[in-house]
Amino acid sequence: MMHSKLLEWYKNYGRHELPWRNTDNIYHIYLSEIMLQQTQVSRVRDEFYPNFLEKFPTLKALADAKEEDVLAAWSGLGYYSRARNLHKTAKLTHKNFPTEYEELLQLPGIGSYTASAVCSFGYHQNVVVIDTNIKRVLKRFYALPNPSDKELADKAQKLLNHKEPRAHNLALMDLGSLICIPKEPSCESCPLRESCQGKSEPELYSKTKKTQY
Ligand code: ADE
Repeated sequence: MMHSKLLEWYKNYGRHELPWRNTDNIYHIYLSEIMLQQTQVSRVRDEFYPNFLEKFPTLKALADAKEEDVLAAWSGLGYYSRARNLHKTAKLTHKNFPTEYEELLQLPGIGSYTASAVCSFGYHQNVVVIDTNIKRVLKRFYALPNPSDKELADKAQKLLNHKEPRAHNLALMDLGSLICIPKEPSCESCPLRESCQGKSEPELYSKTKKTQY
């Protein structure tokens, strides 16, 4: 029931127009996750992602590029180590981009978040994704102010929808960015409100101070 409510909410209110959600090109999906790590969704969507893909439309084009051209195309995004690692990874994978979490983790610039995002959003694998938005949703949903990474991963696993893991992860991400926001979350509009353990602890949702979640 909870799963279907969450997916119904996602169907109606999710950010379906984001271009990296409407492609199965694994390079485009991987690129978006690297860009989104430290840059606002709207700027990635409107500027950086389309501009970069215009210059380097394929992993092969990126692999063949000169590093200085890749860094120039990264300008404005900052954290140039991300661009260097992207370029290295393109050289290593342009013939064959890995499909397994453990293989992805071996690549420059790919940590556990990016590996799981690629597996979930790119390959529809049955894996959990935990970014900062999903982390806040989980902490509230399970009323855990200070969980360890292991506890969070266990809770995410417990909540995962094994029939629709990709949509489930995207739905949690959007719930965290649209409803379960840091200050003054819109609990009245939340599809998970009936099962949320945090909502009965209103002191944890301070309206004035930054919430401890
Ligand atoms: N859709 C897929 N991955 C995303 C991300 N990291 N941020 C926002 N929307 C996304």
